[in-house]
Amino acid sequence: MTSFYLSKPYEPPQAPAKLPLGEPWALFGGISPDQFMARYWHKKPLLIRGAIPAFALSALSGEQLDSPIPTQELLKFALQDGVESRLVKSNPWSFSSGPFAKKAIPSVDKPNWTLLLQGMEAHHPAAAKILTWFRFIPDARLDDLMVSIAGIGGGVGPHFDSYDVFLIQMSGRRQWRISEQDDLSLNPNLPLKILQNFKSEQEWTLEPGDMLYLPPHVAHDGIALDAGCQTWSVGFRSPSFKELLQEGLWRLAESLEDIPGLEDKFADPKQSATQFAEQLPDELIKQLGSKLKELKLDQIDGFLPGITAYLSEPKQQAFFDGPEEPLSPGQFLKQLGATPLVPHPQTRILSLGKQVYCNGETMTKGQAQDIISAWQTLSAQKALKGKKPKHLDKSSLYEAYLAGWLVFQT
Ligand code: SIN
Ligand code: CO
Repeated sequence: MTSFYLSKPYEPPQAPAKLPLGEPWALFGGISPDQFMARYWHKKPLLIRGAIPAFALSALSGEQLDSPIPTQELLKFALQDGVESRLVKSNPWSFSSGPFAKKAIPSVDKPNWTLLLQGMEAHHPAAAKILTWFRFIPDARLDDLMVSIAGIGGGVGPHFDSYDVFLIQMSGRRQWRISEQDDLSLNPNLPLKILQNFKSEQEWTLEPGDMLYLPPHVAHDGIALDAGCQTWSVGFRSPSFKELLQEGLWRLAESLEDIPGLEDKFADPKQSATQFAEQLPDELIKQLGSKLKELKLDQIDGFLPGITAYLSEPKQQAFFDGPEEPLSPGQFLKQLGATPLVPHPQTRILSLGKQVYCNGETMTKGQAQDIISAWQTLSAQKALKGKKPKHLDKSSLYEAYLAGWLVFQT
């Protein structure tokens, strides 16, 4: 549809650092983020017409807005190694993973296919800007921004996700059908996770600028009604307790390295002669029990650093390249006075109280106070400017710059 009009790419604004959580937002149809969280988040679906008012406003003034990323530019991402991409064809269903050869990608005017591009916030500034709109939801919950592009009839079939997702219509129209059905059994004969008994309960056609929020496990099916239909999905993960505890325990086990006294060997001068030589000695069990008590392994504070480090790990395909000509600490400080230092788009930063974790590692442990403050600013505001730490040399901040985890904004 968009090709009949002269259109202009929508340029999403960056949200302010301090979000007005109690004010009504067009993005949520006139309710505030406080109200959205209380009424809908992780509870029930919400359809928002005109969530991005710019689309309708521009149309009124005779200018058609289109996705921030034009079709041909978007398709090129599927050829790249560092972009996680998948191609789904319907009728019959088939599925393949990228990177793709150019000829493997169907032309936009062909029907029944969709291309999914994950982690687009790392590859296009417009996607990164859209994520700033949702920073009233904890960073630890964020997964990524996925962009889908489809030919008419394209979609991934009726399915459910274990994610909270905001589906923003950016180009063309998409028909969404949803159902809060309990039967989430999958069709065992298909190469994709497709529900075998999808019974639509509600149905809408989304136009550019509209948004649909879905909590986990709501069945849904989105079908492209126009060639080049683009849907941008902001997805929020919630890990299982098993995953969190396993990852926390794993890191806790590693941290035993730093505890003095654990190298001591078990001693059993009190061992008596036994008729049950095959049994684990009572003396060992007793001594181990008291060590475990001393370590306080059942206390949450011991787990949280490992769990925060885990949740701050970047996506598997994240790739960091240090600067080609790294600035010396002196030059770095000078630059910091002029240009903001920001996380590389694939970098994840999380805080646990005053401690900051970046890409799976602690950044604040054993660092000077000014370095700790710099990390706290980076974690909260996702940018550092002006402040010049005195203890930069050999600090975790400078190391993170050398590793390419932090970059000067261009
Ligand atoms: C899509 O954008 O085509 C699929 C998104 C979803 O259903 O999760
Ligand atoms: Co889905």
